[in-house]
Amino acid sequence: MIFVTGGAGFIGSNFVLDWLSQSSEQVLNLDKLTYAGNLQNLASLDGNSSHIFTCGDIGDSALVSSLLREHQPRAVLNFAAESHVDRSIDGPEDFVQTNIVGTFRLLEEVRSYWNQLEGSPKQDFRFLHISTDEVYGSLSKDDPAFMETHRYEPNSPYSASKAASDHMVRAYHQTYGLPVLTTNCSNNYGPYHFPEKLIPLTIVNALASKLLPVYGDGQQVRDWLYVNDHCSAIRRVLEAGKTGEVYNVGGWNEKTNLIIVHSVCALLNELQPRADGKDYNEQITYVKDRLGHDRRYAIDASKIERELGWKPAETFETGIRKTVEWYLCNLDWVAHVQSGAYRDWVQNHYAGNAQ
Ligand code: NAD
Ligand code: TYD
Repeated sequence: MIFVTGGAGFIGSNFVLDWLSQSSEQVLNLDKLTYAGNLQNLASLDGNSSHIFTCGDIGDSALVSSLLREHQPRAVLNFAAESHVDRSIDGPEDFVQTNIVGTFRLLEEVRSYWNQLEGSPKQDFRFLHISTDEVYGSLSKDDPAFMETHRYEPNSPYSASKAASDHMVRAYHQTYGLPVLTTNCSNNYGPYHFPEKLIPLTIVNALASKLLPVYGDGQQVRDWLYVNDHCSAIRRVLEAGKTGEVYNVGGWNEKTNLIIVHSVCALLNELQPRADGKDYNEQITYVKDRLGHDRRYAIDASKIERELGWKPAETFETGIRKTVEWYLCNLDWVAHVQSGAYRDWVQNHYAGNAQ
């Protein structure tokens, strides 16, 4: 079996669903169920004995140790993290605890488990760490896209905490020989994306006749990848990646935030027109910029394409249409995740932010 952490979050749950749709190999899923973790994402697996869920913290050494020893996984895939940049600016503590301390404790338990394996289970074991392009910092307009050799220049508490975890993962390979793999991926979008992030927030706010907040001038650039393409890249790296290596994953889809918001509005105009016949773009509002806002991310994914033969299946146009359609068909999921805690965050974060 494989051991997934953070498998009730956005990417982790898509990965678990994707994995079990193509494989009979069991998934052990450890997730703390923070505000971002949601078992409803995995409701279609109810009664499926291939999915074993445990609620808990990657930093709980005793729990991780007992899970490893009981289930004897052939691989650990670490998705668990605090993942929202704005929340990291508001309060970095949880990011340090989970992304740095938690990953360290997880690595320690995995090292101890791996040390007592022998023969091919030891040789074939993998620790795959899921990371982000944000560790590389910000690019200017004409800079080449991030390669795996780009220096680490994280600018937010989130990206700094992910960078620290990447370094620990690397060190466990260099120092102890742990067979690790790291992926650094660009911005994902797709089903089950928590509506605090740009694309789902825009969809959900538009449908609720709320304002669509664009930070600063809206000209920041991100490289967007449909979540299932990230899942296929992770599967491929697990299967064929060379231990100790880093693979950048991206969709070759650089877009400004304003273009992203316009694209979502255009699809909503087509699929779910406003009752008053007006354009959803009229709901756009420019708000105060994010502190230390990275201007541009761009991923050079040629290494994973060349060495592992991976390519994204979706273009931005096909992926964003699927995403908007999914939200329109899953408004009950949206209502469910918009708990009191979510509402409080959104209210506080955007209060008094109008430019
Ligand atoms: P998410 O916030 O949606 O989900 C994170 C999950 O981890 C949640 O289910 C949460 O309950 C769980 N979790 C948090 N702290 C935990 C802990 N201490 N122990 C166990 N579980 C814990 O995040 P996501 O967008 O799905 O991101 C998953 C991973 O992919 C993260 O490591 C993130 O850095 C990375 N990543 C995300 C993106 C993106 O665009 N979302 C892009 C590249 C890389
Ligand atoms: P986000 O989805 O938070 O991802 P990340 O910060 O990891 O890239 O934000 C994507 C971009 O959208 C980022 O440049 C910030 C911007 N943004 C807005 O303009 N308005 C918003 O309300 C949010 C949440 C993000």
